[in-house]
Amino acid sequence: MMSKVKLGAMAPKMVLPVVVMGANVEGRPNYCTVAWVTMIDDDPPALGLVLGKGRRTMEGARENGTFSVNVPGTASAAAVDHCGLVSGHKHDKSDAFTAFYGILGTAPMAAECPMNVECRLRQVVEFEGTDLVIGDVVEVHVDEDCMVNGRPDTEKIDPLLYEMLGGPYRSLGVKVADAFKVGKGFRKG
Ligand SMILES: Cc1cc2nc3c(=O)[nH]c(=O)nc-3n(C[C@H](O)[C@H](O)[C@H](O)COP(=O)(O)O)c2cc1C
Repeated sequence: MMSKVKLGAMAPKMVLPVVVMGANVEGRPNYCTVAWVTMIDDDPPALGLVLGKGRRTMEGARENGTFSVNVPGTASAAAVDHCGLVSGHKHDKSDAFTAFYGILGTAPMAAECPMNVECRLRQVVEFEGTDLVIGDVVEVHVDEDCMVNGRPDTEKIDPLLYEMLGGPYRSLGVKVADAFKVGKGFRKG
């Protein structure tokens, strides 16, 4: 067995998809870059975002009870980084993306991002330094040219990935195997 190096109690170096949370704050779109994102359930679908305390975007999510989760492509790296470097408390970020609205009417979505998820705010679970923000998925919007055989195509979406801790951003690598198939009949060699 390979010997292991102990790094102590720290955030592990993982690669995560990075998304942009959108919400209207006092009537203006604001966007916050979020890498700590997860599904909470798939039926009915719910998403969770882990936010540091005091994010301006969260004020908008509470104000309207709605927010969006936007999946950016690699082409949006600079806009995504900007929304993660600058707070809406200090600067207007409403022009970072082109906002459009869907069924909820109050959750601004970023047109430049190939996939956009409209969420209704369900619950906020408070931790010491962070809050887990849970949203029920109400609608998913996908760029027409990112659809293949009626489904969103990951290669066309070309999602932006973020490498903990501190970057860089990355793009997808190659397909390795079919999930829920390749492990059938697995035996440790
Ligand atoms: C790559 C990257 C990932 C980030 N991930 C998160 C995250 O998961 N949760 C969070 O609260 N902030 C995260 N941030 C920081 C926020 O995006 C940043 O504090 C932002 O300015 C908040 O904007 P707001 O105050 O306008 O909402 C991230 C920033 C970057 C650059």
